[in-house]
Amino acid sequence: MHKSVQDIINMKKEKKKISVITSYDYTLASLCDKAGIDVLLVGDSAGMVMLGYENTIPVTMDQMCMFTEAVSRARTNSLLVADLPFMSYQASIEDAINNSGRLIKAGADTVKLEGGSIMAETISAIVDVGIPVMGHIGLQPQTTMLSEGYKVQGKTKDSALKLIEDAKELEEAGVYSIALEMVSHEVAEIISDTVSVPTIGIGSGVNCDGQVLVVQDLLGMYEKIKPKFAKRYMNLSEDIVNSITNFKKDVESSTFPAEENWFSMNNDELKKLREQIGS
Ligand code: KIV
Repeated sequence: MHKSVQDIINMKKEKKKISVITSYDYTLASLCDKAGIDVLLVGDSAGMVMLGYENTIPVTMDQMCMFTEAVSRARTNSLLVADLPFMSYQASIEDAINNSGRLIKAGADTVKLEGGSIMAETISAIVDVGIPVMGHIGLQPQTTMLSEGYKVQGKTKDSALKLIEDAKELEEAGVYSIALEMVSHEVAEIISDTVSVPTIGIGSGVNCDGQVLVVQDLLGMYEKIKPKFAKRYMNLSEDIVNSITNFKKDVESSTFPAEENWFSMNNDELKKLREQIGS
């Protein structure tokens, strides 16, 4: 049985840290699940790392459903959270409920959406129909990318107070967890101590209740942006380029395929074939 929302809530109570990794495809999701990660997040960061967009704005519901379906076929252990993409929940509560339902039917256990107090009513409505919601405050790529770009949030007293207020309102609205993206570590700690639901930090310091990384950042596969907060546990892009270069060389020198990589005919059958075609 895979982890439930309640398991994640209990981890905060038991002071156990929560590990979260983004996943978008069957192969990598299987490995993350096998590694025992607590939560697989089908983030709309898929738009950048899987589809090559400049930001997350163009990501569609159809794309998010396809990624979610692939990850759901892979997971056995982790909780599966899927992002509602830009403009799938902002225009109306009806949109938000319908699109949350689509992600759940695609295999997600819960949805995540960006926004503070302004999203409280929408969150309550989704929770009321029985779909658990993870909030997301601090840097909100779906909207800040249109105006300010990537900036640390909560560096002044007023912006810190607004973030704390947002977190409290999300909790009241019924979220079971809150992602804190690029929030100054002091404010992330205050929020984590203030709300009873687990906080999941990305670029928000060590005192959040859990941490999330984009899997391509963790594995050193995404070359375009290398955020300061993302620890690279390996340099997979270098290994991949080297392996593919070696494959190219092997093809050019006829070193690949070798006997162990091909299939043979029965000798008698081959003889008969040669006689018939006269070769
Ligand atoms: O889309 C995503 O990957 C996210 C994480 C950065 C939290 O929302």
